[in-house]
Amino acid sequence: MARIGNIELGEFPLLLAPMEDVSDPPFRALCKEQGADVVYTEFISAEGLIRDAAKSVQKLDIYDKERPVGIQIFGANLESMLRTVEIVERSNPDFIDINYGCPVKKVVSKGAGAGILKDIPLMVKLTESMVKHTNLPITVKTRLGWDNDSIHILEVAERLQDVGTKAIAIHGRTRAQMYKGKANWQPIADVKNNHRMHIPVFGNGDVDSPEKAKLMQDKFGLDGAMIGRASIGNPWFFAQVKHFLKTGEQLESPSISQRVSTAKRHLEMAIEWNGDRAGLFETRRHYTNYFKGIPHFKEYRLKMVTSDTKEEVFQVFDEVLEKFT
Ligand SMILES: Cc1cc2nc3c(=O)[nH]c(=O)nc-3n(C[C@H](O)[C@H](O)[C@H](O)COP(=O)(O)O)c2cc1C
Repeated sequence: MARIGNIELGEFPLLLAPMEDVSDPPFRALCKEQGADVVYTEFISAEGLIRDAAKSVQKLDIYDKERPVGIQIFGANLESMLRTVEIVERSNPDFIDINYGCPVKKVVSKGAGAGILKDIPLMVKLTESMVKHTNLPITVKTRLGWDNDSIHILEVAERLQDVGTKAIAIHGRTRAQMYKGKANWQPIADVKNNHRMHIPVFGNGDVDSPEKAKLMQDKFGLDGAMIGRASIGNPWFFAQVKHFLKTGEQLESPSISQRVSTAKRHLEMAIEWNGDRAGLFETRRHYTNYFKGIPHFKEYRLKMVTSDTKEEVFQVFDEVLEKFT
């Protein structure tokens, strides 16, 4: 049984990875329905939140139906991070996750995200201070190291645990790798196998089939799988993985009518949450994946992403339904 603090997550939980512009409330709700055991918000800039920037504040929106939910924050300044913890607490998440893994230049150049992998003492100090500053569980998401010459994750994980981190999710790549190459799960397994480790160690990176999730559980012995890209436009992935882990059999892919009805609900929830215009825009990036494999989908997609109202998009969905079922 994996646990974050007192939150029981069951055997080998599946975690929806934090993803900027993807893991917003509508998408999290759909993944939750399909069996995601834990969900995370998009990453939130500590500095942005303190400035009261609208985009950062909106990312604090969480709902009871998606619990347990973690709010993820990033930053490198101790004072800002502590103030951010206070702001985040008011949204009452189940836990607060610190992003020590984001590889983008804009973030690492300020020493935040994966940038902190160049200053492990600061990483430990920030974490310890945040743990002491809140009653909520603090968790960490990070990468193997800055580059191939600085993979110290074994030591880093132990130190983070020792200062009170309640779980660690590790993406099996270095910052230098960005998203290239293949995620290496062995160092994550080494962390798990360290006899001093007692907090859950979640594996992340390239879990794009039920078989890979099983490998992460059986061969690598990790406590859960964090799933990112494979879920985009494909919330059913959680149900497929769950089914496979339980029965060893593959669940059928969702039918066209299931995909249409999910795409409709996604759009409706996005509009309800974010208003007509933003709702229409933010749902567009999911359509290609929702309708993957449909012949000549390009022309329908073009119509979907150029429609200006929900009704127009629904009409295109209905055309797809009529043509392909
Ligand atoms: C579009 C996108 C946005 C992401 N945003 C975040 C983020 O906000 N916070 C974070 O910790 N990781 C972020 N990531 C990294 C993912 O959480 C995950 O670590 C990475 O995609 C590897 O997992 P995967 O192979 O299952 O996708 C993002 C990844 C993608 C593709």
